[in-house]
Amino acid sequence: MPALVLLGAQWGDEGKGKATDLLGGSVDYVVRYQGGNNAGHTVVVGDQKYALHLLPSGILSPGCTPVIGNGVVVDPAVLLSELSGLAERGVDTSKLLISGNAHLITPYHTTLDKVSERFLGKRKIGTTGRGIGPAYADKINRVGIRVQDLFDESILRQKAEAALDFKNQVLAKLYNRRAIAVDQVVEELLGYADQLSGYVADTTLVLNNAIDQGQVVLFEGGQGTLLDVDHGTYPFVTSSNPTAGGACTGTGVGPTKISRVIGILKAYTTRVGAGPFPTELLDEDGEKLRTIGGERGVTTGRDRRCGWFDAVIARYATRVNGLTDFFLTKLDVLTGWERIPVCVAYEIDGKRVEELPYSQTDFHHATPIYETLPGWSEDITQAKTFDDLPKNAQKYVQALEEMSGAPISAIGVGPGRDETIQINSFL
Ligand code: IMP
Repeated sequence: MPALVLLGAQWGDEGKGKATDLLGGSVDYVVRYQGGNNAGHTVVVGDQKYALHLLPSGILSPGCTPVIGNGVVVDPAVLLSELSGLAERGVDTSKLLISGNAHLITPYHTTLDKVSERFLGKRKIGTTGRGIGPAYADKINRVGIRVQDLFDESILRQKAEAALDFKNQVLAKLYNRRAIAVDQVVEELLGYADQLSGYVADTTLVLNNAIDQGQVVLFEGGQGTLLDVDHGTYPFVTSSNPTAGGACTGTGVGPTKISRVIGILKAYTTRVGAGPFPTELLDEDGEKLRTIGGERGVTTGRDRRCGWFDAVIARYATRVNGLTDFFLTKLDVLTGWERIPVCVAYEIDGKRVEELPYSQTDFHHATPIYETLPGWSEDITQAKTFDDLPKNAQKYVQALEEMSGAPISAIGVGPGRDETIQINSFL
């Protein structure tokens, strides 16, 4: 049963696009199961660089069917522009399948995302402003609009009315904004129906059949473990479940069918937006990581906060996702440091703590306890096997593996597609 989940083990931006793309050639389906166009994958193919926000990165691998599962929130305008952008560059996008049960992000969700962040003031989450939270809120409130509703005008109108009744009161009376006309929303959404109809499918059935027939299905998580609405640093999280369980609810594939769960782990740590981050570096080392690592958000262009590797977080990711493997990315970014600190535990109120504290207050007070490992100065981007790495780079990887609780099965040593060391096969 070759069904794999690939997800971020930290706060997102671990370099999942590269990992997915590496597997792409042998994978039949690449499936997104949560999030929306708040995600950002950069995939380098040859001399071409692709930034994908909503589409699964498998769209770049010929022979692979990309799927947007029911757990995703879809902004149809963004989806169509991403599709046409790829088509212009000669990428075949005709195989894409979209779940009819996926919820839509409409312009009122984006508006509400922005105004509610402004309303929160200094308590703001630092969202991507793409309407993700408000769209998921509507889903849970049972006033969401789904992809399938685009094909029934009368249902679409009823749902738009139900959604806007309350929101227009909030927009006008609380946020001092103009109310949004139902007609305008319905007209805009209907305009997408013809362009999307060819992609809509019963993706649950397609995926279960594919797994039963022994095809390789890859579930690709957006964001990361610590941004999970249940298991992350709530409230500074996204509004979905990037953790492994989300792959089941977000696609309609049962947990017994998942064979492997791979955590993408950056060799240091980054985070975008607000919220606690114990190993954050506000000094020149942080600036150096940001510059060398190219740590600017693919989606928002915001600078990412940077810090040393945090093994407490990696262990937590192993636990809540049931990780079977890690894919360690961006090891090359650490080349040139004489010594590299790694956080092995936290100190909280004078006590050493080995596991991520469940209490938000404790986590906000956690200070890292570091072990310092010797660095390396040799260029590692040409390394093809583990033995090609300088001894200290090998020791760094081995130390991280021991602390993190799952084998490191692949290592990224540069941004290019082939700049990867594969230690264990994922299939
Ligand atoms: P939202 O997902 O736009 O609601 O934003 C919620 C939080 O998740 C914010 O801190 C964002 O910066 C963060 N976030 C959302 N998507 C990503 C991502 O793909 N990478 C890193 N952070 C993200």
